[in-house]
Amino acid sequence: MLRHLLLFFTFFSALLRPSHPRHAPYAMRISCGARNNVHTPPTNTFWYKDFAYTGGIPANGTRPSNISPRLYTLRYFPLSEGPENCYNINRVPKGHYAVRIFFGVVTERNFDSNEPLFDVSVEGTQIYSLRSGWSNNIDEQAFVEALVFLTDGSVSLCFHGTGHGDPAILSIEILQVDDRAYYFGPQWGQGTILRTDKRLSCGAEDPKFDVDYSGDHWGGDRFWNPIITFGQSSDRAIRTTNSIKQASNPPNFYPEALYQTALISTTDNQPELVYTMDVDPNRNYSIWLHFAEIDPSVTGVGKRVFDILINGDVAFQDVDIVNMTGGLYTALVLNKTVAVNGRTLTITIHPTNGHAIINAFEIFEVVMAESKTSPDEVRALQTLKSALRLPLRFGWNGDPCIPQQHPWNGADCQFDRTSSKWVIDGLGLDNQGLRGFLPNDISKLRHLQNINLSGNSIRGPIPSSLGTITTLETLDLSYNFFNGSIPESLGQLTSLRRLNLNSNSLSGGVPAALGGRLLHRASFNFTDNAGLCGIPGLPMCGPHFSVGAKIGIAIGSFVALLLVCTCLMCWWKRRQNILRAQRIAAREAPYAKARTNFSRDMQMARHQGFENSRTAAENGPSLLS
Ligand SMILES: *[C@@H]1O[C@H](CO)[C@@H](O)[C@H](O)[C@H]1NC(C)=O
Ligand SMILES: *[C@@H]1O[C@H](CO)[C@@H](O)[C@H](O)[C@H]1NC(C)=O
Ligand SMILES: *[C@@H]1O[C@H](CO)[C@@H](O)[C@H](O)[C@H]1NC(C)=O
Ligand SMILES: *[C@@H]1O[C@H](CO)[C@@H](O)[C@H](O)[C@H]1NC(C)=O
Ligand SMILES: *[C@@H]1O[C@H](CO)[C@@H](O)[C@H](O)[C@H]1NC(C)=O
Ligand SMILES: *[C@@H]1O[C@H](CO)[C@@H](O)[C@H](O)[C@H]1NC(C)=O
Ligand SMILES: *[C@@H]1O[C@H](CO)[C@@H](O)[C@H](O)[C@H]1NC(C)=O
Repeated sequence: MLRHLLLFFTFFSALLRPSHPRHAPYAMRISCGARNNVHTPPTNTFWYKDFAYTGGIPANGTRPSNISPRLYTLRYFPLSEGPENCYNINRVPKGHYAVRIFFGVVTERNFDSNEPLFDVSVEGTQIYSLRSGWSNNIDEQAFVEALVFLTDGSVSLCFHGTGHGDPAILSIEILQVDDRAYYFGPQWGQGTILRTDKRLSCGAEDPKFDVDYSGDHWGGDRFWNPIITFGQSSDRAIRTTNSIKQASNPPNFYPEALYQTALISTTDNQPELVYTMDVDPNRNYSIWLHFAEIDPSVTGVGKRVFDILINGDVAFQDVDIVNMTGGLYTALVLNKTVAVNGRTLTITIHPTNGHAIINAFEIFEVVMAESKTSPDEVRALQTLKSALRLPLRFGWNGDPCIPQQHPWNGADCQFDRTSSKWVIDGLGLDNQGLRGFLPNDISKLRHLQNINLSGNSIRGPIPSSLGTITTLETLDLSYNFFNGSIPESLGQLTSLRRLNLNSNSLSGGVPAALGGRLLHRASFNFTDNAGLCGIPGLPMCGPHFSVGAKIGIAIGSFVALLLVCTCLMCWWKRRQNILRAQRIAAREAPYAKARTNFSRDMQMARHQGFENSRTAAENGPSLLS
């Protein structure tokens, strides 16, 4: 009975639980360069110690901005470790994430540059280039943040050196948000990344994160920069302590406090509010505007009506907050995505009745996510990287072909329309001091047209799998230590136009199929090898034997050897016989003398018939000794 009652209660308390809080969102925070896990004040945020990086050096750092998390270590990536450096974080559940990276400044005096400028990519798509001046305590330039879909269980964040100092990273945050967060229309989705450009809380005085506002964890702990004037003489900040309805709704879970402050214009001769910012031209921007009627002087519908213009075009007409939300102190969120050709973005709140108001707004750059490189090709390049023992300075981290601004040094990329993926069509690693060997897996780079590995110290055989890269047009392996013979399979390379194998340690015949075609249609160089033969300009090869002939020769030699052994045996046996006969004769002399003579005569008679084999037999021992 009691148990039933308990069950009943459990059931009911489950029903009565507030509907929204699902499971907690996934959150991964890394304190770069930290040896131990860290908790930071004031909210006791948990940061994992540093992991998942591809290189770099941990160091002590300074926080370039007051809003940077209170972490005192960082990781920086000197150029000597390659231009591409990444954090690859695995076991991230499939979902929609706010990814945020705070930049750092290395404390050490002798550090190359106090303000490194570098590029940041997420999942291979470049989302940001640091601008000079970012480290001068400019809050919103102390980090980069983007909304991305992660579908393959991991996230790759890369930092690309641009020759202006060593990238330095203070922290990384991977915070799950609602699957539909910031849905802006049909273009939204896995093909787009929203990079936060501005997030302003109008009328607020202090910079705040969602967590400071006690915001929902599904909001992604956004940073809100305060703004108390748009620079107009007529605007004024207002605030309220009244609670706001409809604030923390899905999918974006905005903190209520965001709607408790606002900027309003106060004069009749300038009733508008105008906000202007610099942007990169020829991009799409997604603009999110927040309103709540918190001005006590506006008491109902029709008292405040305005249009919203973006770069002069009407984005929303006749906005009446009270009408649209159904009441005072109620949140209204509007969003619009626009293409911007020029270098400025201007938002105008243009009232047709009353004065303008705005509580907060957000501006995102809509970045088209890049297609990645074919995973097979990435694996093949990784194999190549270790087999050739590529020096550290090459880096070769992240995706080989993207971001397109930062492909791997030595790999040429081409977009393959049939698979919608990038593939490698050239390898240019000439004169790089490589000391490894060329792995068979190179043939997994099926789209290669050019390979130049000239002028290294690569050892071992030329992999015969090269013959399966049918697209190959030039193959330059000259000035290395390749040995063994040229694989027959290279004869299958019908597109080959240039083949340089000169100055190696190759030996044996040039495959006939190859030699024939090269002579007619391609340029080649085989000189300065240990023992190549078979085409004009090289020595003649010994007689060329087919497999059948080789077997024949082997059997022939064996039979001959057998014959020699047999004859040797005969010769030896007979010699023994003669010696024995002589010993007997010696004992039985003089009586036996005639017999001895007789046997010698007989021997001579016999030997005349076996002249050849006897010669062979007598030569035998010296041959075998
Ligand atoms: C960082 O600072 C701590 C003291 O705060 C010091 O013990 C440590 O050696 C420093 N690390 C480096 C890499 O300079
Ligand atoms: C953004 O605006 C579009 C219409 O332009 C609308 O369909 C969408 O629901 C809005 N997004 C959110 C999260 O309110
Ligand atoms: C902007 O969006 C439009 C579609 O709305 C698209 O055709 C265009 O390529 C986008 N431009 C950029 C730079 O992403
Ligand atoms: C709200 O606006 C709609 C038109 O957008 C209008 O039809 C309606 O009358 C307005 N509501 C009130 C209460 O004025
Ligand atoms: C390969 O590189 C070397 C040296 O860098 C160059 O001289 C040679 O012409 C290149 N080979 C081809 C086939 O382009
Ligand atoms: C090629 O050189 C390697 C050493 O670098 C040696 O082990 C191997 O036997 C050589 N192969 C041939 C076919 O000479
Ligand atoms: C062929 O290779 C040899 C030795 O590596 C070099 O001296 C010669 O100039 C090359 N010939 C051509 C035509 O490139």
